[in-house]
Amino acid sequence: MKHSMTPFLLRAISFLLTFVYLACGFEFFNLNPVPNGFRNFSTRNYKSDVRFEKVKYEESSLTFPLTKLSMQEIDRQKAYSERSYQWPIPLENYKPPCIGWKEIMERRFEQVSHMPGNNSNEITMKYNGWLSAITSAQVIQNFTEFGWGLTRAPDDLVEDLRWHLMQGVNNGAGVRLEHDVEIIMTPNENNADESEDNTMPAVFVELPSNLTKSAMEQLLPLHSEWSGVPINPNGKSYGLRLYRNNSRLLMHTDKLTTHIIASILHVGSSDDAEEWPIVLEDWTGNTYEIILEVGDLLLYEAAKLYHGRPRPFKGSWYTSLFSHYYPLHWDTENYHLEGHYAIPPIWFEDAEISDKHVNRLELVGTGLNEPDCVDGWSALDNSVKLKGPGIDGVILSPMNLMQHQEFRVVPNDLVSY
Ligand SMILES: [Fe+2]
Repeated sequence: MKHSMTPFLLRAISFLLTFVYLACGFEFFNLNPVPNGFRNFSTRNYKSDVRFEKVKYEESSLTFPLTKLSMQEIDRQKAYSERSYQWPIPLENYKPPCIGWKEIMERRFEQVSHMPGNNSNEITMKYNGWLSAITSAQVIQNFTEFGWGLTRAPDDLVEDLRWHLMQGVNNGAGVRLEHDVEIIMTPNENNADESEDNTMPAVFVELPSNLTKSAMEQLLPLHSEWSGVPINPNGKSYGLRLYRNNSRLLMHTDKLTTHIIASILHVGSSDDAEEWPIVLEDWTGNTYEIILEVGDLLLYEAAKLYHGRPRPFKGSWYTSLFSHYYPLHWDTENYHLEGHYAIPPIWFEDAEISDKHVNRLELVGTGLNEPDCVDGWSALDNSVKLKGPGIDGVILSPMNLMQHQEFRVVPNDLVSY
């Protein structure tokens, strides 16, 4: 009798263990010390999370199901005329009116105009491409001379963040999977099929709410001082998202309802991590690749400047704290509509055929990708390469950094305005 019960008990215990394992999922994973130990999370399918509202193409009449507004293309064009928008955009209408900014944006408009528009899906993509580029070029005002700067975060804050980060990495405290973010591309290394659907989510280490609150309070004065405007205290921080091996973050701009004056605080990376530049372009016409040190705080105008990490990350994990603020009197309700009105009426026409080479541009969610270029971004060929660390108590401009550091290429002179 005793012996006949043993297989049953073993099966029951095995079943119970399997059930507990499945129920608890990734909570059991220990992110350290096994290098790349969390590369084995299951695959996921992308769900569309397009920030810009979609367009329906119906018998030459376009309807915009906006958050609070439904509009026909003819009415949108009327709003365009009433606001005296012009196409091509004259230099004085760019924000800011800098030659480098105009050049970078004209190139993007040309790429967008070459996007195909043969069906409703392609037309939606094309519209969203126009919306993204026009909003960045002409609608959103800039607050600072160069659009970005580098300084240091308070040491105590960095220490607190790192303590919680390592609790997550070493002990699994507060670890979960990041939700789907379409502009993060992380191929699943366990599956040879490299289609878009075959990607893995990032990992997320939750921070205690009192720490994120404290971080926002401590960082607010830096954002206010840098931008020169009073800041609304209702900003939000986001983190810690841990990117993993071969992750790419496509070039994009952030939400223009709330992500206006923002920062990236580099908190840490795994021992096996290689340097991973954040890429951003500004109105000098330059594209920068900036390597941040732990504790560096990169301030930038997130809804205006295209930024991302298009080069693949090499290592187990890499993480930063993102903080987003907006000016005190920012119109969070209606400001995002203005980009729709500013799109020129010719937006759905096919581009003129010319001999000029235009790199193909595709939209992935709100992100931009140049699929025929190395690392998906042609401007990396001529980028200005800069490194932290920043200097405590000083906000370094790109000009400061370039004057005091070695850099490889400066394709355009810095243009002040
Ligand atoms: Fe962003």
